[in-house]
Amino acid sequence: MSILKRGAFGDSGRRITLEERLYGNELSYIVITDGTNVRALAPTRDYKARYDGDKGPKTGGMGSYSPAELNEEEDSEIRRRIVEPTLRGLKKDGIDYSGALYFGLMKTSVGFKVIEYNVRLGDPETQTQLFRMRSDLVPYLHSAANGNLAHLPEIKWDRRKGVSVVVVSPGYPDNTQTIRFAYDFGELGSIPHLGVFYGGLKEVGTGFEGRGRMLTLSILGYNFTDANIILYRGFLSRLDFGEWRGDIGLRPSLVERGRI
Ligand code: GLY
Repeated sequence: MSILKRGAFGDSGRRITLEERLYGNELSYIVITDGTNVRALAPTRDYKARYDGDKGPKTGGMGSYSPAELNEEEDSEIRRRIVEPTLRGLKKDGIDYSGALYFGLMKTSVGFKVIEYNVRLGDPETQTQLFRMRSDLVPYLHSAANGNLAHLPEIKWDRRKGVSVVVVSPGYPDNTQTIRFAYDFGELGSIPHLGVFYGGLKEVGTGFEGRGRMLTLSILGYNFTDANIILYRGFLSRLDFGEWRGDIGLRPSLVERGRI
């Protein structure tokens, strides 16, 4: 291709990147690793698009639910085809890695594909995952750092379903506005089974100033339908500031009710 020849347009255009467009549902597969062994966090679905129905610009994450749909066979496929080769690759490159390793995957019609890696936990996956975690996270992190994760069992999870919804300021993410408002968060913070995780929010005078992803509300329910009803009707509808997606966890809730 002539555009790849040096000098045709100066140096620009010498290299082009073709990206495969992937269709399917996203899955965040996050593990704690000591570099050899892994203990997986519960599979979780993140919603990157700003608006309902996965429309609009990409964000840092508008909500999550867990456990995401993943059967044992798929779980082994991810470990065998993606996690283990990644750890081998890190070793081969001389990288002594331990800690949290995030695999952002897409489940396509031809299997799981890796969209991104992060060397950290996920946001807003963590809010939902840690809310459901019934093992103590600290020994896992400690053992990962000390190279003896093999001695710990798989992590235990609450059987209830977790849903988290992120409350953002108007215009997020392309034209993010800063807003000021008053709200009694003390009341929200005292409700059992409701997690309130603060982000782009600070106290200013007697109120708050918020920008971007301001806070995340997380809930556990005996099924996704309950979790959604409690979170959306019980709490989000009471907020008089911010915006959020209205369809977080909707798909598994429709599956539960036999609608899809
Ligand atoms: N939720 C996406 C991320 O943490 O990168």
